[in-house]
Amino acid sequence: MQPKCIITGGAGFIGSALVRELLANGEQSVGVVDNLNSGHLSNLEEVKDRVETHVVDIRDYDALVRIFPGADVVYHLAAIPSVPRSIQDPVPSHDVNINGTFNVYRAAKEAGVRRVVYAASSSAYGDTLVLPKTESMAPSPKSPYALQKLMGEYYGSVFDSCFGLESVSLRFFNVYGPRQDPSSPYSGVLSLFMKAAMERKAPTIFGDGEQSRDFTYVEDVAALVRKASMVPGVSGKVFNAGNGGRYTLNFLWEEIQKLEGITLPANYGPPRGGDVRDSQADTTAAKRELGHDPQFTIEEGLRRTMDWYRAHKA
Ligand code: UD1
Repeated sequence: MQPKCIITGGAGFIGSALVRELLANGEQSVGVVDNLNSGHLSNLEEVKDRVETHVVDIRDYDALVRIFPGADVVYHLAAIPSVPRSIQDPVPSHDVNINGTFNVYRAAKEAGVRRVVYAASSSAYGDTLVLPKTESMAPSPKSPYALQKLMGEYYGSVFDSCFGLESVSLRFFNVYGPRQDPSSPYSGVLSLFMKAAMERKAPTIFGDGEQSRDFTYVEDVAALVRKASMVPGVSGKVFNAGNGGRYTLNFLWEEIQKLEGITLPANYGPPRGGDVRDSQADTTAAKRELGHDPQFTIEEGLRRTMDWYRAHKA
């Protein structure tokens, strides 16, 4: 049977968590579109019999328009992530995150998809004067990545208003958890910290380590993304998809050392270009309008993630 849900980036860390979330909540099968650039088929190993995988790049409009017909929802998570990568190598990230995203919306409209749920980014806020960050604040992107992700939101609302394609944008706030790939210098900071802890190597902290982030456990994000596909009356809107807390890198490295039972001072380097100082989501709107209900404290999320890395040590 043709899957009703298609996930771009479905072989990635967050996408594969969403695959499992959908299959655990009533979908018989799901479709995945992924070019395997940063995604891995191994992320889908346990569920592969219920996944229809298309190894396709979202820059290939013709392929998308062949794959999407019959789908009710497209979850658009495929992207070239990372703030520093978008500064060091801006052309591919622009091409995938803006042109590829346009292709996804256009193909979804052409194929008669009901709704696109888009993975937007908290980076769109930039440095705000006030915390937590609410959706009514003016965006102020500080990096190509932040700008690209913001453009995808705007395209979502324009496809809603001009073309009648439903869209919901969720601003992800530093998602972490099992399967986050620590193998690139551009990987999420917690995956790098955990890898360093297991290898008994000091991590590098860019800046003074007092910058803070609203680290959000991947299963909480996946649950919200699924809800965002179903709720009526929210099309064209943007919601924060954070946990609502805020933790510094210094605190997190302390916590990870405790989990591993080690004492290993971090190395400190210069601050990273394009970085936002503090990030924390106001989750009021997501809770009220989408039923967002995060379940994982930072302690629980860190513990589960560390357990996973230990069990899957290469
Ligand atoms: C940003 C976005 C996030 C987006 C992600 C995609 C913000 C607030 N968040 O995350 O929404 O999904 O990009 O990639 O903009 N760091 C170190 N040492 C390291 C690596 C990183 O100190 O080895 C620091 C960074 O300088 C930064 C923090 O850790 O201050 C988090 O970095 P990272 O995990 O890359 O995520 P963001 O850039 O915050």
